[in-house]
Amino acid sequence: MKKRCLVATGGGDCPGLNAVIRAIVKRASKEQDWEIIGSRDAFDGILRDPMEIVELDNSTVAGIHVRGGTILGTTNKGGPFAWAVKDNDGNWKEEDHSAEMLRKLEFLNVNAVISIGGDGSQRISQQLFEMGCNIIGVPKTIDNDLGATDITFGFPTAVEIATDAVDKLVTTAESHNRILILEVMGREAGWIALHAAVAGGAEVCLIPEIPYNINKVIERINKRIHHSRGFVNIVISEGARSINGNQQYQENDEFGNHNLRLGGAGNRLMHELKKGGVTTDIRVTLLGHLQRGGKPIAYDRILATQFGVKAFEMVLDKEFGKMAALRDGKLVAVPISEAIEKYNYVDLNSDLVQTARDIDISFGD
Ligand code: F6P
Repeated sequence: MKKRCLVATGGGDCPGLNAVIRAIVKRASKEQDWEIIGSRDAFDGILRDPMEIVELDNSTVAGIHVRGGTILGTTNKGGPFAWAVKDNDGNWKEEDHSAEMLRKLEFLNVNAVISIGGDGSQRISQQLFEMGCNIIGVPKTIDNDLGATDITFGFPTAVEIATDAVDKLVTTAESHNRILILEVMGREAGWIALHAAVAGGAEVCLIPEIPYNINKVIERINKRIHHSRGFVNIVISEGARSINGNQQYQENDEFGNHNLRLGGAGNRLMHELKKGGVTTDIRVTLLGHLQRGGKPIAYDRILATQFGVKAFEMVLDKEFGKMAALRDGKLVAVPISEAIEKYNYVDLNSDLVQTARDIDISFGD
């Protein structure tokens, strides 16, 4: 009987997931004694009754590297340690079904698991590893906020999309002499905002790592409007906040979603600017899930393919409890525990932050 490796994609989707799946399958097909199966919607496919498992072979994955999303489906709710069940009164509650999941993996003769996911998914991977599961991680997220790897696939595509949005907003801002605010994703990390602001040539970039002083933002706006051009482009990260305020959350009524949903920072900034006396017209664009959709750019396809091949080779080498990562341009295996311990914030002393300051981008500090 062939050995089996189960693949799952967890958390928010991101461009490049399909390229990882394809690379795992293609690399595994070189080994006579291995076959690859997938679980639908992260590990939910294992936990459901009946189970939802997909056979993956070279024909199933042909050409999928160019497609966005994930052919396996995903979820950022629940999971084996917080499985949603209805109690006797019909109310939803969460139960730990991890032991049941491991029993089901044994029943399916699964020898190894590859979990492609971000921070939340890799926390689940680490817990499963500690329970004895032969698991390997692959880092993904548009936010680029996972530690132990220089970069996550999906992030470069999101930067490309956000930069394209800045480019488009610049021409309309210029035509109307307006202030245009673009709110981008990123959770607690300002990577997407920083890169899009530099690439798109924004005047102001507000990120969670630097709480902003609204008076400094207004100073930069006035300098631009009164001394050079009549319009301003601002990129703000969804997790940004002022020195006096908190982060802005959306209402969160989805059961089992443990991530508080950020959103609204751009609109709040508009009100703060108006309150501060800014009279120029202001418009806000929320880029939202466009940043996660569509096909991955070439860089992401390549990185995702490298991560997929590396992950399967880690299975062959029995490097369980580890995650494929890119460090100083080299593909390496790092402990999953290391990746989840250190959140990857923007380094305020980095060359890129300095470059941004040197070309007069204000961080509101
Ligand atoms: O982690 C990826 C991400 O897109 C974040 O940037 C954002 O805050 C969150 O997911 C949105 O999640 P959802 O898909 O639940 O709206």
